[in-house]
Amino acid sequence: MEIDKTSSLHFAKCGQTVHPDLANLFKGFSKLSKDERLNALKEFGLLEKSEIEYLQKGGLKDTSLGEKFVENVIGYFQVPLGVATNFNIDGKDFVIPMAVEETSIVAAASKTAKWVRECGHIKTEIIGSEIIGQIQLAKVKDFAKFKNQIETAKAEFIKTSNEEVAFGMVRRGGGVTDIQVREIIRPDGLSMAIVHVHMNPVDAMGANIVNQVCEFLKNPIQELTNEKVTMCILSNLVDTKLTKATVVVENIEADLAEKIEEASLFSQLDPYRAATNNKGVLNGIDPILIATGNDWRAVEAGVHAYASRDGQYRSITRWYRDGKNLVGELIAPIIVGTVGGVTSLHPTAGLCLKMMKTQGAGELSRVIAAVGLVQNLGALKALTTVGIIEGHMKLHIKNLTLAAGASEVELPFVQKKLEEILSLKKRISLSHAIEVLKELRSRVQTSSDRN
Ligand code: MEV
Repeated sequence: MEIDKTSSLHFAKCGQTVHPDLANLFKGFSKLSKDERLNALKEFGLLEKSEIEYLQKGGLKDTSLGEKFVENVIGYFQVPLGVATNFNIDGKDFVIPMAVEETSIVAAASKTAKWVRECGHIKTEIIGSEIIGQIQLAKVKDFAKFKNQIETAKAEFIKTSNEEVAFGMVRRGGGVTDIQVREIIRPDGLSMAIVHVHMNPVDAMGANIVNQVCEFLKNPIQELTNEKVTMCILSNLVDTKLTKATVVVENIEADLAEKIEEASLFSQLDPYRAATNNKGVLNGIDPILIATGNDWRAVEAGVHAYASRDGQYRSITRWYRDGKNLVGELIAPIIVGTVGGVTSLHPTAGLCLKMMKTQGAGELSRVIAAVGLVQNLGALKALTTVGIIEGHMKLHIKNLTLAAGASEVELPFVQKKLEEILSLKKRISLSHAIEVLKELRSRVQTSSDRN
């Protein structure tokens, strides 16, 4: 299938015409074969010939890089790498790489992004810029005195941390910016002191450097206060650097908007539902983190901790009606890097980052938040209308058909029949596929006997 790179009329935006950059790439992308998809990405300057060859050979094979990352390496674990299309975030088009095994995530993201693109928009922002490192002093003798000593030495601690440890970050416009002291009253009534080191990591995720700063401050703090530092480590609950995405769907059908608002209220109020809602949001977030070599466990931990910040676990997204529009918001710590660690070392991560054409960690984080929110919208729309089975199983039908042993010629007939059964019975299984195939073959046999 050919992709037209010249036409400028691509997506009808609620009746109007718009001229987005990658719109022609997005059009019909899912109907292309794998090789055609790779070529299309090359034509649009998102992949190079050598990168296509690398992907066609199955990506990373040589385990020597793996051995640099972890111990006792015996190979690589491959998950499918797809690309979600149709995303226009803050007025810019993005191709989104997603490394994920779950059927329908990439398709649902692309389909919902198309809806938003045609009938709305996505805006994102970062609130705050600092990550947090923690220094624990399990038992301090006199908390008030300790706090006062740290606050008096704060400027000097920040200066020496930046000069001796975080100088690279400072050169790039970041570094340690603040030091704060918190008190936690222990179950035995004594005081635990926690020193928070705030640091702007610029385009790095910042885990290593903030840990280094905390460890660097251990001795000066002990010498100054005569109290004992018990451990130092970053915090994944980064409420000082939050990513916000907002999706607006204009002139949405009133009934659908109300259903989505009700579904959202459910996930705000009920932790059982909130967990599943947030899992659906993370369906959009984790695959990008994996594809770009980012630490998805850190983001997961931060998202869940932030979701519980008022003492009850809640949805990290919220949908509400605003006149004729539906508005969705996601706010969460999504701390990622575009330099350092696996992002720089793993060739597939490098290729994915390049394909996204993001300008640094801030934009990557904003794109990830937008995809998570759009993924959530797709799930809520399906759940409150046709139900989850239909969407999921439609895509699964082909797998069932193949598993039943259908040939290329038999495939379309069996698929069509299974779709009919699905819409009638609202469920489908391998035994349905086997039955349909058996029936088809016996009909073919009878008609050839007759001839
Ligand atoms: C399945 O992977 C994700 C959903 O359960 C999310 C949700 O319920 O919102 C469909």
